[in-house]
Amino acid sequence: AASDPDLVARARAAKEALGDKVFVLGHHYQRDEVIQFADVTGDSFKLARDAAARPEAEYIVFCGVHFMAESADILTGPQQQVILPDLAAGCSMADMARIAQVEAAWEAMAAAGVQDQVVPVTYMNSTAAIKAFCGRNGGIVCTSSNAEVALDWAYEQKGPDAKVLFLPDQHLGRNTAVLKLGLSLDDCVLWNPFKPNGGLTAEQLRDAKMILWKGHCSVHGRFSADVIDDLRAKIDDLNVIVHPECQHEVVLKADFVGSTEYIIKTIEAAPSGSSWAIGTELNLVQRLADAHPDKNIVFLDRNVCYCSTMNRIDLPHFVWAMESLVEGVVVNRIEVDPQTEQEALVALQRMLDLPG
Ligand code: 13P
Ligand code: SF4
Repeated sequence: AASDPDLVARARAAKEALGDKVFVLGHHYQRDEVIQFADVTGDSFKLARDAAARPEAEYIVFCGVHFMAESADILTGPQQQVILPDLAAGCSMADMARIAQVEAAWEAMAAAGVQDQVVPVTYMNSTAAIKAFCGRNGGIVCTSSNAEVALDWAYEQKGPDAKVLFLPDQHLGRNTAVLKLGLSLDDCVLWNPFKPNGGLTAEQLRDAKMILWKGHCSVHGRFSADVIDDLRAKIDDLNVIVHPECQHEVVLKADFVGSTEYIIKTIEAAPSGSSWAIGTELNLVQRLADAHPDKNIVFLDRNVCYCSTMNRIDLPHFVWAMESLVEGVVVNRIEVDPQTEQEALVALQRMLDLPG
C-alpha cells in the first residue's frame, strides 16, 4: 500500500531537522513505508555492527524488534539513546526462552553432572538477560549469518566431550549442527522448558552433543516441505532459498539457506529470467520481487505471512518517535540495566571477535 504522503513529508522533515544526531537502522523485515527512512538496512548481525560504529549519533532509532534494540543499546555508548518506535514490537521466539527457565535448565544440567561440558550459545533473537547468561557462563551470541563459526568456537571451548546448549531457536541450532557441522540428528536432543529435566533422561543428556531449546519462529515455522514439492512441479528450474529458522525438512529440500542478507545477495546475483521461491518474511520477499522484475520470484507459502511484531513499526509510530526527538523528547527508550549490559556485552563481543 502507498504511504500517506503527509506522514512521508513529516518523517522526511523530522529526519532532516535531526541531521547527524539521529541514525536510523532498519531490519530487512520492516515495511516499505518505514525502510525508506533507514540510513542502513541489514540482517541482525550487520545492524549490530552498524549500531556500534556510530558513536556520534545521539539517538539510534531502531526499526526492528525489541531484542535488536536491546543489542544496539548494549553495543553503543552510554550517551547514546536507543529508541524502538513501538514498544509492542517484540519477538515470539525471543519470548520462548525466559531467563528463569534457562537458569532452571542450567541447574538441572549441573545436577545431571553435565553442566561442566556445556557451552551456552544464544541466537541474537533472545532477551538481553539470556545474552548475559551466556556471557557469564562462558558462552557466545550468534546470528543466522555466523552460527556455524560460533558453534565451532563453542565446541572448541570444552574439548571432545563438549556439548552446546542452543537458545532459543531449535531450528537454527539443528540446521547448523547437522548441515554445517556434520552432527547427526541423534546427536541433538530437544529441551522442553515445561517438563522436568527438559523431558530428557540422564542418559539422553549425557549422550547429546547439541541440546536444543524448544523455541521456534512463528513466521518461519509455517513453511512446509510439501509446498516446495508443489512449486517445483509447477515452475521449471525453480531455485528454493530459505532462512535457517525454517524447519529441518524444509531446509533439506531447499537449494540455498542463509540469513536475510544472504538471501538478498543471492537474488541480486541471480541471472535474469531465473525462478525463485523464497522462504522468509513477506515484506522482504515482496521488496525483492519488486526490485527484480526480470526474475520470477514467488513466496514459499500459500498464505500471507508477515511478522506481526516487525510490522508494528509503521509510519505513524516512526513519525511520532522522530517528531518527539525534534521536540527534545525521547519516547520509547530501550535501556538495558548495567549489570545485564556488562555480561551480555561479553557474549556479544565474543561473537564480534569471531573470524570471518
Ligand atoms: P536475520 O536478519 O539475522 O537473518 O534474522 C532473521 C530474523 O528472524 C530476525 O528476526
Ligand atoms: Fe521473531 Fe520470527 Fe518475527 Fe524474526 S520473524 S522477529 S524471529 S517472530
